Amino acid sequence: MSFPLTLLSEFTEHPIVQAPMAGGVSCPELAGKVSESGGLGFLAAGYKTPEAMYEDVKQLRGLTQRPFGVNLFMPQPDHSDSGSLERYRAQLAGEAMWYETELGDTDHATDDAYEAKLAILFDDPVPVVSFTFGCPTRGVLERFHKRGTFTVVTVTSVEEAQVAEWSGADAVCVQGAEAGGHRGTHRDDPQEDGTGSALGLLSLVTHVKEAVRLPVIAAGGVMRGKQIAAVLAAGASAAQLGTAFLVCPESGADPVHKQAMTNSLFNRTEMTRAFTGRPARALVNRFLREHGRYAPAAYPQVHHLTAGVRKAAAKAKDPQGMALWAGQGHRLARDLPAAQLMDVLVTELAVAREALLKRGSPGGAA
Ligand SMILES: Cc1cc2nc3c(=O)[nH]c(=O)nc-3n(C[C@H](O)[C@H](O)[C@H](O)COP(=O)(O)O)c2cc1C
Repeated sequence: MSFPLTLLSEFTEHPIVQAPMAGGVSCPELAGKVSESGGLGFLAAGYKTPEAMYEDVKQLRGLTQRPFGVNLFMPQPDHSDSGSLERYRAQLAGEAMWYETELGDTDHATDDAYEAKLAILFDDPVPVVSFTFGCPTRGVLERFHKRGTFTVVTVTSVEEAQVAEWSGADAVCVQGAEAGGHRGTHRDDPQEDGTGSALGLLSLVTHVKEAVRLPVIAAGGVMRGKQIAAVLAAGASAAQLGTAFLVCPESGADPVHKQAMTNSLFNRTEMTRAFTGRPARALVNRFLREHGRYAPAAYPQVHHLTAGVRKAAAKAKDPQGMALWAGQGHRLARDLPAAQLMDVLVTELAVAREALLKRGSPGGAA
């Protein structure tokens, strides 16, 4: 099967991409509704087995004939240091006791079954594949090209965008500092907490547009149609929204996570290694406050270490022990069915574009 897709606009009616969100959040139901509404729905293959990823693809194909994407995690080098991991295990012992569970085994592969997932997607191509935590080789991107799959590489800097262009990606997903969930940096620098060098979205989109010729999908803190208009005005071809779709009834996020987004108890987000060992933006809760500063740069080992505690906290409906991934715009989240949210965003975008045009016309507001 081949898809003659060369430009983003060829396969979405509206310049709106629903972000891939691992952990069961961007499930087939959510992606299907977004694609059916003229956006681009995305499945997240991260943490899933290759078989479970393929089941999601088959399920989504049963829900929509429209284009959709699958997101893959790039394999990670194992930099973890057993001493600092054991210290963090000791730090978290009280959490395991409190939630009456065990801390996880950290001896897991760090490649997220990348090769096996590639093999499935080469064998039975999907319209779009995006990557995070690194850039695939030219050979891999070319194989996708030959199968008609449009490729997107997540970038957080101009240098990463240049690598993506050189490697033959069709587009970049530019992730600003505001974004919820993990930063998609190609390399995790243990000396950085993920905030120091992170540029805000409008600044980063402008930098990247001036450095590479690839289409840009802009991600991070986008919750309203007028923000979509702003990133389009800065040169992006589409906006990618995560937090905005996380609260939809179709999303697979835990109900406690959804409610926390607009709960005044959680009024800010922070970048932290506390839950997974890699910088990621989450609502500031007790777990983050107490453990964030002690968490080592060890991904995905810390993800496996804390998995049981996070699951037990969710079971106990306790948001203080969960990883409440959220972008800076979380308070603007609207609990609407995905198709309705798409309609609202499209209307807001049209209104914002009209207002911009009016301002630019003779006689318009200065
Ligand atoms: C719960 C959650 C899970 C995420 N999982 C992934 C993922 O699996 N792959 C990926 O490329 N990005 C992932 N992201 C990041 C999004 O792709 C996107 O960059 C981010 O949601 C944009 O910021 P926003 O949440 O403020 O809209 C995740 C974000 C959230 C909130």
